[in-house]
Amino acid sequence: MEKKTYTAIVLAAGKGTRMGGDVHKQYLLLNGKPVLYYSLKALEDSRVDHIVLVTGESEIDYCQKEIIEKYGFQKVKKVVAGGAERYHSVFCGLQAAEGADYVLVHDGARPFVENAILERCMEAVEKYHACVVGMPVKDTIKIVDEQGFAVNTPPRNLVWNVQTPQCFSYPLILDAYSKMIEEEKQGKQMSVTDDAMVLETFSQHQVKLIEGSYENIKITTPEDLLVAEIFCKQRQ
Ligand code: CTP
Ligand code: MG
Repeated sequence: MEKKTYTAIVLAAGKGTRMGGDVHKQYLLLNGKPVLYYSLKALEDSRVDHIVLVTGESEIDYCQKEIIEKYGFQKVKKVVAGGAERYHSVFCGLQAAEGADYVLVHDGARPFVENAILERCMEAVEKYHACVVGMPVKDTIKIVDEQGFAVNTPPRNLVWNVQTPQCFSYPLILDAYSKMIEEEKQGKQMSVTDDAMVLETFSQHQVKLIEGSYENIKITTPEDLLVAEIFCKQRQ
């Protein structure tokens, strides 16, 4: 059997509005290196074959020189411009990943992904064709109405926080995304926050949740940076 190829799509085209500040959060320094360095490094050192980096149009040069060349990432074959919403950026990445058997979509703002997680991803995606990493929630979750009153409380063991990588057979995810982008072009409002949702909405295929880690955080607000610095120190 021919070896399957895995392409990671690393997303770094966001503007970090919840973080605030002048520098987009994926380029903030953690122990002297940009946040984005850490996820690229984990992927570079893994069994993944290629990396497509999706970033802002005006950040492509910076990424090429100050991250890819500077740290010698060999697997980053393409750096492409993303779009206004995360799902637009994913679609740009998918188009650049042509020829892959499987894709792993990963947030560039999630620096603590580890090889063990990537291995679980690659194993599970061959079996299920669609899998996303996550962890069971620690807090009780309430569904509320528009006025903020509790409507119900889903059983905690069945509620997961979803992380990335989100991994798919390439034709499956490309087809679902193409359908979504087509509907959007026809004027339909989209409220998509992760890739699994695209499959849930635009295909019949089930998405399997697999174990990530509680350290695989996304850097979203300023508090997350404090936690990230501690994780970073711990790893040295
Ligand atoms: N992302 C992207 N393209 C976008 C929006 C987000 O590539 N149009 C990327 C971000 O760079 C980040 C990941 O998707 O690595 C997760 O998104 P999020 O945490 O929401 O980042 P931002 O959109 O940058 O932040 P915010 O929502 O606070 O503006
Ligand atoms: Mg965002």
